[in-house]
Amino acid sequence: MSVSFYLFIHITALVGMVSSLSYLLLTEKNNKKCQMIFGSSALLMLISGFGQIAKLGINMHSGWLAGKILIWLILAASIPMISKRFPHLKGKWFNMSLSLVILAVFLVVYKPF
Ligand code: HEM
Repeated sequence: MSVSFYLFIHITALVGMVSSLSYLLLTEKNNKKCQMIFGSSALLMLISGFGQIAKLGINMHSGWLAGKILIWLILAASIPMISKRFPHLKGKWFNMSLSLVILAVFLVVYKPF
């Protein structure tokens, strides 16, 4: 698999993750299909992320990468839980989630540490 293929999957999965988390956190409904799209997108982001690490020979101890993996973990764990069990937190968590996604994009584009 080429690095472009992994990057294509990574960004496509990011679109899937952001659109499904928006639906899950901005509507009252707890849509099963959307939960599945979120879960599979999150998994594809992780696999394609490690694919890029391997292909580009990126140092696993890079601060920017650790930050991105931590953000991914927070989103992947919190969104299914909040959308199912804490619906009163959905609005606030949508703002937090979007800020975390933007922070992850900032970390990978600028690699500040
Ligand atoms: C919500 C979390 C994430 C977001 C928003 C995100 C976003 C992005 C974006 C937009 C790019 C393309 C950057 C570019 O081409 O300049 C990228 C590249 C990359 N991502 Fe992610 N990503 C996330 C999670 C992850 C995870 C969990 C991993 C590792 C397991 C990862 C590893 C990478 C790597 C290695 C690259 C290539 C960096 C480079 O070309 O120098 N990402 N990510």
